[in-house]
Amino acid sequence: MTKFLSFPKDFVWGCASSAYQVEGAWNEDGKGKSIWDTFVHAPDHVVNNETGDVTVDHYHRFKEDVPLMKDLNLAAYRFSVAWTRILPSGKGKVNRIGLGFYDRLVDELLNHKIEPYICLFHWDLPQALQDQGGWPNRDTAYAFAEYARIVAERLSDRVNVWFTHNEPWVAAMAGYFAGQHAPGIKDGKKAFQALHHLLLSHGLAVESIHAAAKQPVRVGIILNLNPVHPASESANDRAAAARMDAVINRSTLDPLLKGTTPIQEFSIGKLLSGSLIKPTDLEKIRTLDILGVNYYTRTVVKNDRKFPIVAASQIQPEGNEYSGMWEIYPEGIYEILARIWWDYHPKCDLMVTENGIPVPDGLDFDGRVRDERRTRYLRNHLHQVHRAISDDIPIKGYFHWSLMDNFEWAHGYGQRFGLVHVDFKTQERTIKDSGRWFANVIHENGIQVDGE
Ligand code: FCB
Repeated sequence: MTKFLSFPKDFVWGCASSAYQVEGAWNEDGKGKSIWDTFVHAPDHVVNNETGDVTVDHYHRFKEDVPLMKDLNLAAYRFSVAWTRILPSGKGKVNRIGLGFYDRLVDELLNHKIEPYICLFHWDLPQALQDQGGWPNRDTAYAFAEYARIVAERLSDRVNVWFTHNEPWVAAMAGYFAGQHAPGIKDGKKAFQALHHLLLSHGLAVESIHAAAKQPVRVGIILNLNPVHPASESANDRAAAARMDAVINRSTLDPLLKGTTPIQEFSIGKLLSGSLIKPTDLEKIRTLDILGVNYYTRTVVKNDRKFPIVAASQIQPEGNEYSGMWEIYPEGIYEILARIWWDYHPKCDLMVTENGIPVPDGLDFDGRVRDERRTRYLRNHLHQVHRAISDDIPIKGYFHWSLMDNFEWAHGYGQRFGLVHVDFKTQERTIKDSGRWFANVIHENGIQVDGE
């Protein structure tokens, strides 16, 4: 027996992408260098030393890509703006050609009745600002607010939904602590400084966007959140899970939704908090019309004193399927949405802004991409989103990551996340079977699942 689960009437269905991962044209039309341009051009940062110099060439091909979105029945498209196209040195002189690109993209989307959702920062900080210290430098937060104002002034007559940041936690920790992402720094203190300034810049930019907006707009932020589970029921593992949860979830949720921070709970936080967090910062950060949740997996940890800051280390539990990057755990999307709703009682809208799976897809002999695995992943996760909605948690939308296969950061082109397959040599686009399935879900505004 199967049953049909309907989503709310005004539920927003979309796909997400980011500038560096899809645009290419890395040094065209006056664009400045970002930290990702620098990072990929140095050896051994990305698998096979691949770069986003060209990637899927969306900068030149957006007129071909928007109709693909239409074929998928998308109501909304979430993309990010490359700061270095607008302000090549991060601040100062504005590059009109760069603004013009996003202007044309927004018009193209609207002409196809697709609502643009803009994100202002998806990790591609101007290199010129990194040269002055990057996110660990408080001045970067003010530069960001000014950049946000410039973009809002130009596009807010047509764009209603704005996100300041995508996954500030990843930008800070992968970029300044683990060093796997640009700018490739490995310094715990800098990472926490970066995280605080990213959050502060959110608060400052919310103000500058609302002040510049040509009409009432909604401004939010996007967080990567994972439920954290203990490896065992022992008191030590449970305490380790609570510490990890404070570091990876509460470090962004608490400031944004409660105006507090768990950072003093850590030895490094005690060193930093006095000088780093100024008296009014937390109040500034706590401002949000929409919270976007990116969900991919859960984190399972055991007590482990060898690891700095959290004294916990991640384990890969048995029993579930894994993808090329993570354990597949659909219940986690329900858990995290329910936890935000019941623990924080957010006054803002809540939506899923990324969810997806890498699958090593290729074209079959007849030109089709039979990616059943992605369809199964999607159905199982959407089932859990529906479960949250049935529990009266008002989830407003779901954005799949990603529209097209693209440059997956340090993994290069090896991990394909798209509903649309891209042949990276010819740039040919092919809608995968999962894309057709998703288009039908949107058309019917619901999913078919097993059950009574
Ligand atoms: C998220 C990022 C996105 C993409 C997916 C797979 O953390 O926001 O750019 O890399 O993971």
